[in-house]
Amino acid sequence: MQYFSIDEIKGWDRFYRANFINSLQGFKPVSLLGTVSENGSPNLAIFSNIIHIGADPVLIGFINRPVEAAPHTIQNIELTKQYTINHIQPSFVAAAHQTSAKYSADQNEFEETGLKTFFLENFKAPFVAESEIKYGLELVEIVPITHNNTFLVIGSITHVLLKEGLIQQDGFIDANKAKTITSLGLDGYYSTEPIARFEYAKPGKEVKKIS
Ligand SMILES: Cc1cc2nc3c(=O)[nH]c(=O)nc-3n(C[C@H](O)[C@H](O)[C@H](O)COP(=O)(O)O)c2cc1C
Repeated sequence: MQYFSIDEIKGWDRFYRANFINSLQGFKPVSLLGTVSENGSPNLAIFSNIIHIGADPVLIGFINRPVEAAPHTIQNIELTKQYTINHIQPSFVAAAHQTSAKYSADQNEFEETGLKTFFLENFKAPFVAESEIKYGLELVEIVPITHNNTFLVIGSITHVLLKEGLIQQDGFIDANKAKTITSLGLDGYYSTEPIARFEYAKPGKEVKKIS
């Protein structure tokens, strides 16, 4: 085993350290967040710090960097209270990565990357037409994390859009079948391979695979 103390890590080159720390947690759900500005301009950006907060009520959170570093998504959400989260498939991964570029507020990442918008009636935020699994959210709360000036943005799901044939008999959404990708660090993207689904675990009971 290689061992590293935090004092050693702190002494490393900035970019080496960032790659090391950003990939330490392992694979993450990576998605495109779609929002619209007050004057109706669509915005799209890639995010991988996305977490399930609760199933009832249905709450999803994501971490937004300090506003100076990633201003548009969080500002649009504060103003319009709506946003979309769109899974990424391999066919548009390069375009998805490109949305992390620092575009100005008046630049539309859909136009810049060639991705297409899809709108639902009575919902302002744009979905990514190409995405096979996507959902719309209403803002619940923005929690400032004062320690490093980041934000936990919490939303509740109001709309879900899935390509036909992805829901298994028990409600499980087969993201692997949709070829949804996962990310590692800030520049690595991966496809998945199923290992197993298990029945609800109980103490003293051998785990059983769901067939
Ligand atoms: C793979 C990947 C994952 C990212 N995840 C996040 C994230 O979870 N939170 C964040 O604030 N920025 C994240 N970023 C950076 C944003 O995509 C980038 O700052 C973007 O320009 C923000 O756009 P906006 O100002 O339109 O919100 C990520 C970038 C990449 C390449």
